[in-house]
Amino acid sequence: MGVLARYGHLMAGVRDSTPPITLGEGGTPLIRSRRLESRLGVGELYFKLEGMNPTGSFKDRGMVVAVAKALEDECGAIICASTGNTSASASAFGALCGMESIVVVPRGNIAAGKLAQASMYGARVVAISGSFDDALDIVRSLTEMNQVRVVNSINPDRLEGQKTAAFEIIDDLGDAPDDLFIPVGNAGNITAYWKGFTEYRELGNATRLPRMMGYQAAGAAPFVIGHPVEDPQTVATAIRIGRPASWDSAIAARDESGGLIDSVTDEQILDAYSLLAEMEGIFGEPASAASVAGLAKYALDHPETQDRRVVCIITGNGLKDPDRATAQGLNVDESPADSAAVRKILGWQ
Ligand code: F0G
Repeated sequence: MGVLARYGHLMAGVRDSTPPITLGEGGTPLIRSRRLESRLGVGELYFKLEGMNPTGSFKDRGMVVAVAKALEDECGAIICASTGNTSASASAFGALCGMESIVVVPRGNIAAGKLAQASMYGARVVAISGSFDDALDIVRSLTEMNQVRVVNSINPDRLEGQKTAAFEIIDDLGDAPDDLFIPVGNAGNITAYWKGFTEYRELGNATRLPRMMGYQAAGAAPFVIGHPVEDPQTVATAIRIGRPASWDSAIAARDESGGLIDSVTDEQILDAYSLLAEMEGIFGEPASAASVAGLAKYALDHPETQDRRVVCIITGNGLKDPDRATAQGLNVDESPADSAAVRKILGWQ
């Protein structure tokens, strides 16, 4: 069951006439940590595996709603700016509905798998010699002229869908966790989670609210330094964003929840990226590892984390960015095709 069928009645703007399309998004696993929990010093640690959505990221939850509404309103085309995942998701749902998808991406700063996805789903891909922020400016200017629906998170339908991840966490845990650790780029997701947690509590499904603990990459951390970043840089290309669109609502989520938005270095992100794979069997993309890197940093300075129940959002699948994984150093021994040679490499007698 997709998020429209399961939670559509809790989404503003979704009506009986909204087409109930789905690619099987949502319903992602919440997995208890086996090993990082004690290593980092956390009471209870869970990972929400958003990379298990149909196009491999959390974007599908919001995209299905944005595209369903575009279909209901008889738009023939959708458009977005993207660091990669939004473009993959938009093109998939565009293909599902027979709509033209136009995606504008920063050339050279989008993971290979994401570009392959948009291309396979049949999108018009325009790679600009500029940043994500430039791409979003271009998209905003184009929609002033044409009959096309913007499906970036500035479209409120996106947030209505994305808030369902908070509902699922409460449904799975029986209440909200103490803390939610989440990567922050354009800041739509932290906004959507906060909306989801507060609405679900108002409906009586939770007794409390989590602190929203957002993490940016140090070279792309406008919330941390308090103003836009002109030339954002990070290995976590998904969150290489200097002028987040959902600025005020992310600040509100941070402050109303008593949380924080801090930064982690690329080195901390890549350490967490490897640790998550090696110690938990979870291959997230680098941007996703920012939530785990943030938790590692926070728990070090806050021993009281030992008594807290924490959820880390693993926003996208590591398979999307094979170049980054390879750059970590491939752990491969070459061997002739015979058993004795393989035994020797393994050090077996
Ligand atoms: N994690 C991943 C894997 C992402 O792709 C993104 C954003 C984020 C975290 C940050 O979420 O923007 O809501 O704060 N990706 C967008 C894109 C920008 O174009 O795919 P956010």
